[in-house]
Amino acid sequence: MRIIKAKTYEEMSLAAADYIMAQILWKQDSVLGLATGSTPIGVYNELAERNRQRRLDFAQVRTVNLDEYVGLTADHPQSYARFMRENLFDHLNIKPENTHIPNGVATNIDAECAAYDALIQGLGGVDLQLLGVGHNGHIGFNEPDAAFPLGTHQVTLTESTLQANQRFFERPEDVPTKALTMGIRDIMQAKRVVIVASGSDKAAAVKDMLAGPIVPQMPASILQIHPNCVLFADEAALSQM
Ligand code: GLP
Repeated sequence: MRIIKAKTYEEMSLAAADYIMAQILWKQDSVLGLATGSTPIGVYNELAERNRQRRLDFAQVRTVNLDEYVGLTADHPQSYARFMRENLFDHLNIKPENTHIPNGVATNIDAECAAYDALIQGLGGVDLQLLGVGHNGHIGFNEPDAAFPLGTHQVTLTESTLQANQRFFERPEDVPTKALTMGIRDIMQAKRVVIVASGSDKAAAVKDMLAGPIVPQMPASILQIHPNCVLFADEAALSQM
């Protein structure tokens, strides 16, 4: 894994945006795998600004998002569908029909997961997957587990993740306990992976991801064997290295 060390969050966001921009310039109809969380917001702001300045064109870009909460409709204020519209899609010349997010209110969850994997295959696979990392090393919502999950599936969120997510919800009981997420195989099949990490609270997860054993108890550690993965991190996130 290549490591691009930035001094600050802003520098990290600019460098990751440069990388994603290069991908889109090289292949205008790129399939981007996208992530939520606060870390990618700086990258998204930068991509939106470059699109506004007409330096970057999203007219042919297709996107697939990693995950969605089970039980939240696409217009729920805390759904990832809404997050993506507000933080990125509404500010781009991307076609809404080219953006895809798992349906967290599907009546048949298994069918939804299978259809999502088929959709990714139908798009020709992911060209560039953007990831953040959870405090416990999760990527997407692939939580620490006894085995690496493969395709899109439903997960029960861990206590650590529920606590991290609580800041977005008024009451603890409002925090969704389940989510749909692309699996580790979906992520590993992406041609390129970009992972962003910022802040000292991510330093332990970054260290285990980069230097620890490749085990499903630390899902991000699998990225050590991805042939084309770049970590963009600020000094705080790399402070335990
Ligand atoms: C959620 C998302 C992940 C994200 C993580 C970290 O759990 N499902 O994709 O990487 O949050 O979020 P943050 O960047 O806010 O720390």
